[in-house]
Amino acid sequence: MSGGHSTYTPTTGIGRWIDSRLPLPRLVHDSFVSYPVPRNLNYAYTFGGILSIMLVVQIVTGIVLAMHYSAHVDMAFDSVEKIMRDVNSGWLIRYLHANGASMFFIAVYLHIARGMYYGSYKAPRELLWILGVIIYLLMMATAFMGYVLPWGQMSFWGATVITGFFTAIPLVGEWIQQLLLGGFAVDNPTLNRFFSLHYLLPFMIAGVVVLHVWALHVTGQTNPTGIEVKQKTDTLPFTPYATVKDAFGMVLFFIMFAYFVFYIPNYLGHADNYIMADSLKTPSHIVPEWYFLPFYAILRAITFNIGPIDSKLGGVLAMFGAIAVLFFVPWLDTSKVRSAVYRPWYKLFFWLFVVNSIFLGWLGSRPAEGAYVIMSQIGTLYYFGFFLVIMPLLGLIETPKRLPNSITEAVLAKNKGAASVQPAGANASPETKG
Ligand code: HEM
Repeated sequence: MSGGHSTYTPTTGIGRWIDSRLPLPRLVHDSFVSYPVPRNLNYAYTFGGILSIMLVVQIVTGIVLAMHYSAHVDMAFDSVEKIMRDVNSGWLIRYLHANGASMFFIAVYLHIARGMYYGSYKAPRELLWILGVIIYLLMMATAFMGYVLPWGQMSFWGATVITGFFTAIPLVGEWIQQLLLGGFAVDNPTLNRFFSLHYLLPFMIAGVVVLHVWALHVTGQTNPTGIEVKQKTDTLPFTPYATVKDAFGMVLFFIMFAYFVFYIPNYLGHADNYIMADSLKTPSHIVPEWYFLPFYAILRAITFNIGPIDSKLGGVLAMFGAIAVLFFVPWLDTSKVRSAVYRPWYKLFFWLFVVNSIFLGWLGSRPAEGAYVIMSQIGTLYYFGFFLVIMPLLGLIETPKRLPNSITEAVLAKNKGAASVQPAGANASPETKG
């Protein structure tokens, strides 16, 4: 996956033997040891590594859970309870998996926000970004189907509501819904196909992640200045610099993860999911998991017909459109300057976008009535306005700040205070000091 010239030289006989047959150690060395990374990467750049580890955590804990889980409507709920009570460390595996899904989404939202702030999606990294959006879509599908498996009240009613959206699509909507459900309502065939797909999709995500990292290694990483690497002093080898920084970021992230698992394991879940699914009792308030809430608010914001499009279809289109618009971000942003660091107005609108997304998330958890609906409509307007109006226009009218000539210049300018107190030549290598 390395874009440059290989510096790997096997030192042992067996190393040379493997290298001439299947140069896997060379690939790993060139991609994760000698690979040059910009020297000014900050902690916002550690989330890709954190996401990779979280994917492994989800797959490993998921496989162990599947050993004890029964995908049948009469047994699913009890099998999860059995995992919690009777299986050795079953509670830990389940809480790791359930909270791990939330941690995965926290990390992915921070990863996407980093990309939007530093303009990571701009040429030549459009495909890298698009692969990311595909991963995000697959993550959403996986998480939705996973939530159905414990067969609690929210599992059942969440699945009923979400699969119901598809009926809004003209002509083929009902057919799609029946295909998803395996019948006319959420039932045993639904649970079976969701279990099968929930097991499959993470491996598809892993496949797309390989393409994502491959594309990353072709273009190289961006950095907070947004200026491309120009000279050797702009970079450092991946190991130890990025490896250690990523590892430290992961430790901090895992402390937060552990806090959820060991102290508040049900905080992010819904109490109703500890009641077994009952098709005759609708919960008073059906809410999806927290990471879907902004989109849920957008769905419910469309309470009016738009020409021939009725409000139900309008809501579904707005919800899917809110995700689909991400695919076009590399072309919607017309600015020649990549990073928000040098774009004062974009920075302001970006942070408003973040606040607005959190606000929409909160609105998604409220009942769809009165002022909540109006606020959701305003939030939805800003969401689309940010991508479709602000991004394209701002790039044309904004005057960016002066850019440094290189990454090295930016780093040295930042360290100017510290450098000025050092005697001249303090940074020279022992040979040049003479
Ligand atoms: C399972 C999910 C994902 C994994 C494992 C993953 C992995 C990675 C890794 C290891 C990096 C390099 C380190 C870093 O910059 O943080 C990276 C960079 C990147 N990712 Fe992801 N990613 C995931 C999801 C996404 C999503 C959902 C998007 C966008 C919608 C995205 C967009 C990007 C972009 C644009 C870069 C380049 C960053 C730059 O150089 O500025 N990724 N990803």
